[in-house]
Amino acid sequence: MCGIVGYTGRESVTDQILDSLELLEYRGYDSAGLATLNGQTGKIKLRKCAGRVNDLRGICKKDKKISTCGIGHTRWATHGGVSDENAHPHRCGDVLLVHNGIVENYEELKDHFMLHKELKSQTDTEVVAAVLNRLYQGDPHEAIRKTVQYLKGTFALVIMFADQPDIIYAIRNVSPIVAAYSGNGTMLASDVVALGAAAKQYMVVPEYMIMELHKDEIKLFDLNGKPHQTEFIDIDWDTTRSGKGNYPFYMEKEIMEQPDAMKATIESRVVDGRIDLSADGVPDDVLRDCERVCVVACGTAMHAGLVAKVLVQSKLNMYMDVEYASEFMYEDPVIDDKTLVLAISQSGETIDTLEALKYARRKGAKSIAVINVKGSSIARESDYVMYTAAGPEIAVASTKAYTTQLITLFLLVGRMAKVRGIFDDAAEKEYLKNLLQAPEKMQEVLDQKYDIHKIAREMLDAKDAFMIGRGLDYSILLEGALKLKEVSYIHTEAYASGELKHGTIALITENTPVVAVVTQTKLKDKELSNIREVQSRGASVVLLVKDGFDLADAEYADVFTLPAMADEFMVFPASAALQLLAYYVSMDKGLDVDKPRNLAKVVTVE
Ligand code: F6R
Repeated sequence: MCGIVGYTGRESVTDQILDSLELLEYRGYDSAGLATLNGQTGKIKLRKCAGRVNDLRGICKKDKKISTCGIGHTRWATHGGVSDENAHPHRCGDVLLVHNGIVENYEELKDHFMLHKELKSQTDTEVVAAVLNRLYQGDPHEAIRKTVQYLKGTFALVIMFADQPDIIYAIRNVSPIVAAYSGNGTMLASDVVALGAAAKQYMVVPEYMIMELHKDEIKLFDLNGKPHQTEFIDIDWDTTRSGKGNYPFYMEKEIMEQPDAMKATIESRVVDGRIDLSADGVPDDVLRDCERVCVVACGTAMHAGLVAKVLVQSKLNMYMDVEYASEFMYEDPVIDDKTLVLAISQSGETIDTLEALKYARRKGAKSIAVINVKGSSIARESDYVMYTAAGPEIAVASTKAYTTQLITLFLLVGRMAKVRGIFDDAAEKEYLKNLLQAPEKMQEVLDQKYDIHKIAREMLDAKDAFMIGRGLDYSILLEGALKLKEVSYIHTEAYASGELKHGTIALITENTPVVAVVTQTKLKDKELSNIREVQSRGASVVLLVKDGFDLADAEYADVFTLPAMADEFMVFPASAALQLLAYYVSMDKGLDVDKPRNLAKVVTVE
């Protein structure tokens, strides 16, 4: 959480940093700040405020003098409330510093260095700035090295020293920093999307290495001062795709981009009409020899794992667990060298998922990461990586990352079925044929977005809502409910519809909105009778139903017909409908769809 930017070069830094911070606001938007250091005059300017980057932009408008070196920050509050003082950068003496992560021992450090009197904020970050300032005797490397030896926790630290004009220093443990040559200078950020349109390649700063950004050069050193080679990766994301285009919100744009993102995720993995994961480097024996599969992931990514579980059990007849990554290692999971762990993550930086993956590997498990952001921490930690081709996802609520995760997992299960001798050539072809239809079936739903918008209007006043279904329908409703609650603030529960009558049906009253998804042939009759149970308690039911299913003569508040596919592939059109529903409810309630309250897109704290 928190977004960090730094630039040093020949161009004016203020707008450059503000623009990049705006692209990083998905990582937190409680406060924003910017510090510049003018190489000619030696003058430091520090601007920060509670609120959004746009508020900071307003404050910076008054600044006349141009600086070409600066650091910026957008915050998701952890230590200390949302206030101007707690906003970064923090300045202590000669040190200006921004931080992403959590320093766990900051109270101890306060005592050890007797810092109480000089601190102005409640943050762990200012303590780090103060320690660094104490240890700084004119040699930045020595001060940084000594400081990080004191720190417990995770950190990406970006630093300017008042007497080191035009140079930015950075060091990290777990929390990400990437860097690039960009816009007539060099730049660093928490995420590639913020590196500026001019950047063509980027590097991931290795942990516990000191990076120096100079106007013309990026230098890396280990903690003993030994220089290290910098390795660059091509930026193959079209950074212009990170704009909103003609859409009012990123979330809508990203929902609409799904068919293309899904196609791109499939295409590179189909060779001569067969699923082929050789470009991912995933060996067949890993898929053949495992005895159980376990997903570690959080939130939406975990929900993608739940869909895969249904698939793995039904297609592969294999045992599979899907665990909240944050709970995983505290539950003494049964993991051994016959376990294949799938770590699913859009950002590749979610700390709970990263730690769960490390734990599973220590126990001997093989691992495949399903990741959207190239070179991210989870990707680097895993034995193998399958990248989703979603491109940059900016809206906090995940949409295209989820559906491309699903596509990737479907491909993985298809390949496993083949190498384990479950699919013959004909079965593989049929499976792939269905999967290849998923983008176009999703497009059919997106083309009817105005019908879903009408349904959404009926839900604006709801305080609570339910989503009910069975089997795969239930798995995708868990994600549908998360989407609706996080962007609309309507308390929504997804329920396995047969389970309702064991308690929760007590909450169904006159006009409670219930969204029911019915797409699974073998479950259809039972699902429809569960719907009747809530209707007879007065619920107002919106039905999303597979085309061709006979609904008998029941009446519904609204019915949306989903284009038909083979049952297990119905997750794709149904997900699109649920995403649009959440989106329109949020938009019509006048909420900030892309930045729901209290959230951040990249969760780098446990
Ligand atoms: C919800 C959402 C989150 C993320 C979760 C994991 O819309 O996006 O639930 O799915 O925080 O994030 P990643 O996938 O980056 O590990």
